[in-house]
Amino acid sequence: MKTIKDIDVKNKTILVRVDYNVPLKNGKVENDLRIRASLPTINYLLEQGAKRIVLISHLGRPEGKPSSEFSLRPTIGVLEHLFPNHSIGFYDLPKKDEQIQIPSKVKIALLENLRFDPREEANDAEFIANIAKSVNADIYVQDGFAVIHRAHASTDAIKEHLPVYAGFLIENEIKNLENVTKNPESPVLLIIGGAKVDDKQPLIDKFLKQADYIYVGGKIAADGYKSSHKKIIVASDFDTNEKGEKLDIGPLSTGELANLITDAKTIIWNGLLGYAEDPAYATSSTIAAELIGEHQGAETIICGGDTTGFVENLMKEHDSLHYSLVSTGGGASLEFLLGKKLPGLAAIKQ
Ligand code: 3PG
Repeated sequence: MKTIKDIDVKNKTILVRVDYNVPLKNGKVENDLRIRASLPTINYLLEQGAKRIVLISHLGRPEGKPSSEFSLRPTIGVLEHLFPNHSIGFYDLPKKDEQIQIPSKVKIALLENLRFDPREEANDAEFIANIAKSVNADIYVQDGFAVIHRAHASTDAIKEHLPVYAGFLIENEIKNLENVTKNPESPVLLIIGGAKVDDKQPLIDKFLKQADYIYVGGKIAADGYKSSHKKIIVASDFDTNEKGEKLDIGPLSTGELANLITDAKTIIWNGLLGYAEDPAYATSSTIAAELIGEHQGAETIICGGDTTGFVENLMKEHDSLHYSLVSTGGGASLEFLLGKKLPGLAAIKQ
């Protein structure tokens, strides 16, 4: 995979596809992990003397129509905070053959939501070529890991117009996810939680061969998940509320999981173990997150939106927690772990 290290970016305009599909609340970014994750690439390009960086992204699913609800404008505040010494420009998507007028002092520009135009999801090469021309892009960088599983204009069709180079986020996500899928060090522990068994069963099936243990907790276990496979351990005791609803795995199961975590050399965790939005039922998830984050002898991957959000919050409180990867990709990391072909990855120059 060719990365930004393989090219000379000096005095070049670089179009960077990021994934700033972040949760918003009252017009503010609620979780900025995906924006912070794009920093290494942007900083490197600036350090290497790029003339300008133009960021493009989608946000939500506006179904091809502009709408203020799905505008990327709220992410500007985060970028301004992360780059206090740069003025950040924000521009609408260009019309056909339009040149976007960006003042020379603007080193970092962000364009409006790509999905405001139906041609993004229709994988239309002309649409993305027009954007590249509108800012005089010399180089195209793919760093939107979380959208790499989509065959869209900015992930796939772009390759017909410009060679695509990987940014550091893509490189880091792929390196870590490959570490746990190709010859992972044993014992390998897959921890599955969350609510939707149909989403998780393919991951369980896929890892049956290479995992030593698959631990199932969360609502899936509370709802009575059963398996007779010797590698699969399902939580067996639960903390309940006054109505008898099972909202967290209990102390015996948490202890059992803690032992598996301590012994493991490779850990992949997808899905919270209880209803962790309520601190009363976040005990097992907190213990697991702390044990994994302090387990420095293992390759540790956290994936799935709820789990990464939970771990991120804990990391803000505890400096001692470190993970090999807190993945920015929900569907993308899952599809990678399942061994599926990711169109945006295939489009990167080899
Ligand atoms: C995500 O949040 O998983 C990515 O940004 C992709 O978004 P999508 O599922 O709407 O394509």
